[in-house]
Amino acid sequence: MTAEEVKSRIENLSRELEQHNHSYYVLSDPTISDFEFDQLLKELEQLEEQFPAFVDANSPTKRVGGDITKKFAAVVHDFPMMSLSNTYSKDEIVEWENRIRKIADGKLEYVCELKYDGVAIGIKYVDGAMTRAVTRGDGTKGEDITNNVRTIRTIPMKLKGNNYPSDFEIRGEIFYPLASFQKLNEQREEAGEALFANPRNTASGTLKMQDSAIVASRGLDCYLYGVYSKETLASSHFESVQYAGEWGFKIPIAERKMIAKCENIDQITDFINHWDTERHNLDFEIDGIVIKVNNYRQQEELGFTAKSPRWAIAYKFKAAEVTTVLESVAYQVGRTGAITPVANLKPVLLAGTTVKRASLHNADQIEKLDLRIGDHVYVEKGGEIIPKVTAVNLAKRDPNAPVFKYITHCPECETALVRNEGDVKHYCPNDLGCPPQIKGKMEHFISRKAMDIEGLGSETIDQLYDAGMIKSIGDLYDLTSEQLLPLERMAEKSVENMLTGIQESKLVPFERVLFALGIRYIGETVAKKLARYFKSLDKLMEADVETLVAVDEIGERIAESVVEYFQNEEHQLLIDRLKSAGLQFEIPAEQFAGNTEKLKGLSFVISGVFEGHSRDELKELIEKNGGKNSGSVSSKTSYILAGEGMGPSKREKADKLGVTIISETDFEGMID
Ligand code: IVH
Repeated sequence: MTAEEVKSRIENLSRELEQHNHSYYVLSDPTISDFEFDQLLKELEQLEEQFPAFVDANSPTKRVGGDITKKFAAVVHDFPMMSLSNTYSKDEIVEWENRIRKIADGKLEYVCELKYDGVAIGIKYVDGAMTRAVTRGDGTKGEDITNNVRTIRTIPMKLKGNNYPSDFEIRGEIFYPLASFQKLNEQREEAGEALFANPRNTASGTLKMQDSAIVASRGLDCYLYGVYSKETLASSHFESVQYAGEWGFKIPIAERKMIAKCENIDQITDFINHWDTERHNLDFEIDGIVIKVNNYRQQEELGFTAKSPRWAIAYKFKAAEVTTVLESVAYQVGRTGAITPVANLKPVLLAGTTVKRASLHNADQIEKLDLRIGDHVYVEKGGEIIPKVTAVNLAKRDPNAPVFKYITHCPECETALVRNEGDVKHYCPNDLGCPPQIKGKMEHFISRKAMDIEGLGSETIDQLYDAGMIKSIGDLYDLTSEQLLPLERMAEKSVENMLTGIQESKLVPFERVLFALGIRYIGETVAKKLARYFKSLDKLMEADVETLVAVDEIGERIAESVVEYFQNEEHQLLIDRLKSAGLQFEIPAEQFAGNTEKLKGLSFVISGVFEGHSRDELKELIEKNGGKNSGSVSSKTSYILAGEGMGPSKREKADKLGVTIISETDFEGMID
């Protein structure tokens, strides 16, 4: 291909991929299969790797992230990002409407919208291409988080059509969809990590992450609510929003009543009442309704106060709340031994469901609330998932109620609880003798991403544990059909399936066995890293904290957890049993035959095209010889392995940082 042809292929692929992105994420109406999409994306990635000079900052390949931002630059907003005046009262909406009707000229029309509970963002477009995305910050200046915003697939990087202003800003709210949020917390739970409290804070934290690849994996979403431009395009807010939809943005759907034009207070009230209940059926959180004057001329006439526009107001929903009596506090023990206190309440109706229990989070929270048994407590459905106790009605407290004492010993096995520095929760350290921990660990061990034992589920684990047949993971491998058949609900076929499943799990590769052990902080990814680095459990067991933290992405917390786990004699006995049962505790030698450490400690960036090897082959050779591959040139880069057509920006950066550029032949010499 000539340079011209490459350039035009890259442009066509980019356009096509963005179109498919829009169909999939915004319209929820894909027109090609995921496989076909991936093929196109791969082709584009390869072309971009070979011809970096043609890479566009808004290429669809940027949606998968990978750029690291050291520090977000501060940016002054072209138009200040103001806030809205808020009210919880419908009467105040009536007053507001009366007030502005007297100021503005002519009949007023309103637009009602959802008040998305997320993080405000202002995104600039010049000639239809995204140039910058900035957080609200203090309203006058915010942070440039463009790399992270590019990973949000419902935000176009290049606009569709041609009727957009040549230079404008669009503002909206980035949020964490509830389904993705739940998935994230499930993964964290599996890895024994602390759960995130609510979608809004997590969205905000995610957007401030330095590694955009993590942001890309999180599934954030965005609705747009305002177009700001010096050129006039539309005469009303509603019209602008429709235009934004045509340019490829995700906008509220009028047919689903997510946005509506209203003539009077009654219609506004209907909209509010509709969403006061209907909001529980949305896949994202809203905390109210925003009412805006539709006509731009009238908006201008009404103007702003120091903090907010006079032409808009937010009606905020009260979190559903009731009071009831705290009857007792129970304590749950999780798989990792973490203790969660739970309030047992006198049953009460709250937002359509009877609530008997509410989360109390941890000992600090109970202390902060100054809780006593028998107290009248306020219970709120906040994050809409588990209700929580928010306050105590002190006026109703029995003056003789004793001060609440948090447990000091595990409610299940009576072991003294520990609380490590920096942890908010207490833990039961008796992981090998505490029933819910043992059962939880076994459930984790057999789960799909771990040993994936077919024919064995958590109910059977409970049954076998309660019958005294399995006391630890090791016992699973000694089970026989003679033992199992007499048990209730055990037919010949199900026993056979279970035993086959257990046998087959002996082939599960080392990295998953390591994950299956359920060591605290060792999630799937960390297990993979450790397995690949140490190659065998014996080597991993020998490693001290220092050796462990030397492994890429392994921090002190993980390192200490690994060392502590293997120091425990009972864990050593368990490993011995599993070893004799025949589980995989190393990566088979043939998988790393020919490996050397010739490139140990060296980091390579590959650029351009090569004669003797494909780029993937070179990457593999680097890894096989103990080196590391990296996508971008930094001060940590040892060498740039350059072929034909290395990008000028890479060369410039290499010169600036003094990184040595080597050829394919030089490289072959290094590993020969
Ligand atoms: S219009 C002058 N519309 O609520 C401000 N804001 O306090 C104009 N928000 O930080 C904002 N949904 O990020 C507008 N449909 C909506 C909104 C919305 C959420 C946020 C916004 C701002 C806060 C206002």
